[in-house]
Amino acid sequence: MPDKANAPLSNLEEWEDFLKVRYPENGQKGSPGFQATDPDKKQEQFRNYETDARPSVREFYRLNHRHQTYDFVQAKRKEFLSLSRRRMSIWEALDYLNTLVDESDPDTDLSQLDHLLQTAEQIRRDGHPRWFILTGLIHDLGKILCLYGEPQWAVVGDTFPVGCAYSEKIVFHQFFADNPDSRVPQFQSRTGAYSEGCGLNQVCLSWGHDEYLYQVVKDYLPKEALYMVRYHSFYPAHREGEYQHLMSAEDKKMFAWVRAFNPYDLYTKSHERPDVEKLRPFYDELIREYFPATLRW
Ligand SMILES: [Fe+2]
Repeated sequence: MPDKANAPLSNLEEWEDFLKVRYPENGQKGSPGFQATDPDKKQEQFRNYETDARPSVREFYRLNHRHQTYDFVQAKRKEFLSLSRRRMSIWEALDYLNTLVDESDPDTDLSQLDHLLQTAEQIRRDGHPRWFILTGLIHDLGKILCLYGEPQWAVVGDTFPVGCAYSEKIVFHQFFADNPDSRVPQFQSRTGAYSEGCGLNQVCLSWGHDEYLYQVVKDYLPKEALYMVRYHSFYPAHREGEYQHLMSAEDKKMFAWVRAFNPYDLYTKSHERPDVEKLRPFYDELIREYFPATLRW
């Protein structure tokens, strides 16, 4: 496991709890027309989230913004995207992720699998398509990066493009001053290493569990689901409306699905433990409908 200096959060949910404070639930669940940004939100109000954040969360973002450079992302892509670490079925990956336990947080009575099943079950209750339910079940499987020994700041955290100017709306923006890329002029223009409207597929986001899982599942799910997997942590875009200038027309259209998914990701966690044995046959069949028996991880 990573050393304490690289793991300021007592568990990965601490980042998600912070997101919930920053983006409180507004009851507009599951509609592709979900309004992402609050146009009236004052910059000052936005900064209060930073002031009120726990020291552990603050330290987590400090490390994330300091170390997620363009070169770091290229190195991690090279290290992980050959997908040559393991061969696992979706259930094996769920079981593997479930071994990620928070010794430091005895109050967390629910496992990673419980959280994912809760998300999927809420999507199912709301009558969404089967691929949407499946996306709820698998969307955080990329967090197995933690089990490979990767530091928290390279697994979770709001993602952002590297190699171009950092949006002012990225939380703890001031920590980018310590990122070596902030002293590389070609990485600090509006489009940086990219070009106007080039499409997000050309853009490298900060490294984490979204991109890793996207690469694992990209041949098997509908495009809408892949957008959800790949960009669910890209809060600067799907909640703040930033980086439109790098998006293609298709990205802009598809982000309606990323926004439709976000409330399930953020707000469905409860203390009610799902009945895994009872639910298993439904999910076994759903997984078989889309995925081969094993995948490369
Ligand atoms: Fe996630």
